[in-house]
Amino acid sequence: MKFQSTLLLSALCLASAAVLSERQGFQPAIQTVPSTLNVPGAKRIKTRTGPYTLPSTTEKNLQSRLMGVSGMIDVIGVTPKPCTSGCTILAIQGDLEYANGTRALTSDGSWLHHSVMFAQGPGRGNAACNTGLDAFFSTGNERNPAFYADTNASVIDTGYHVQATDRFQLYSELMNMDPIRKEVYMVLYYDVVPTTPAMTKQALSLWIQLHQCGRPDITPGNLNLMQQSLKQVFTESTAP
Ligand SMILES: *[C@@H]1O[C@H](CO)[C@@H](O)[C@H](O)[C@H]1NC(C)=O
Ligand SMILES: *[C@@H]1O[C@H](CO)[C@@H](O)[C@H](O)[C@H]1NC(C)=O
Repeated sequence: MKFQSTLLLSALCLASAAVLSERQGFQPAIQTVPSTLNVPGAKRIKTRTGPYTLPSTTEKNLQSRLMGVSGMIDVIGVTPKPCTSGCTILAIQGDLEYANGTRALTSDGSWLHHSVMFAQGPGRGNAACNTGLDAFFSTGNERNPAFYADTNASVIDTGYHVQATDRFQLYSELMNMDPIRKEVYMVLYYDVVPTTPAMTKQALSLWIQLHQCGRPDITPGNLNLMQQSLKQVFTESTAP
């Protein structure tokens, strides 16, 4: 009886998974896709984080109340690494897509506003600030690749070395420009190779901003959260 119900449950699960994959094109969280680099032994790993629901532009949420914007969400969470034990990242490219694997683009109202990836774990920290988090990659809607090595060199001696103890955290601010909710996934393409003794250098990302280690958008200044000028009222007094 127990055996039968287990079998029935497995059959139901398989059937619903098949329906799901037929309906929306099931995409695994980690996939190996063809490499676009001419580097021996390089693998291109695609990861998906989500799903995230983009709010409709008519919904009220924290972002609409705080910043007067619509359709925006901010999300943060653990994201899969391209390897579990250790490897070296040569390049990373961010993207946004729907459940079925089709790219989510501004032409259909889905905006990868910006996204930042942090490595967290023993020995990790920012090269400029002692934060315990290394913000080593970011992307905006341009979705350009970031290179951590000269991938055309005959010997690759640098890259971003992933350690077994690292945890990757992904922060993303995403936007919808339509009055209907949408489900999207953050995608990261990692070009990786095994770490070799020739890789004697570690690539670092340095952030250059005002208030290097502070939070410029909450420090009193003459701009609001949306970087618009604050209205200031001045009084004039004349000394005799
Ligand atoms: C994938 O999903 C998006 C969003 O739901 C939809 O607009 C698109 O037509 C779908 N593409 C395919 C090939 O099914
Ligand atoms: C490698 O060479 C190709 C072809 O010349 C060039 O398009 C590409 O930008 C180069 N890549 C890097 C990381 O310099």
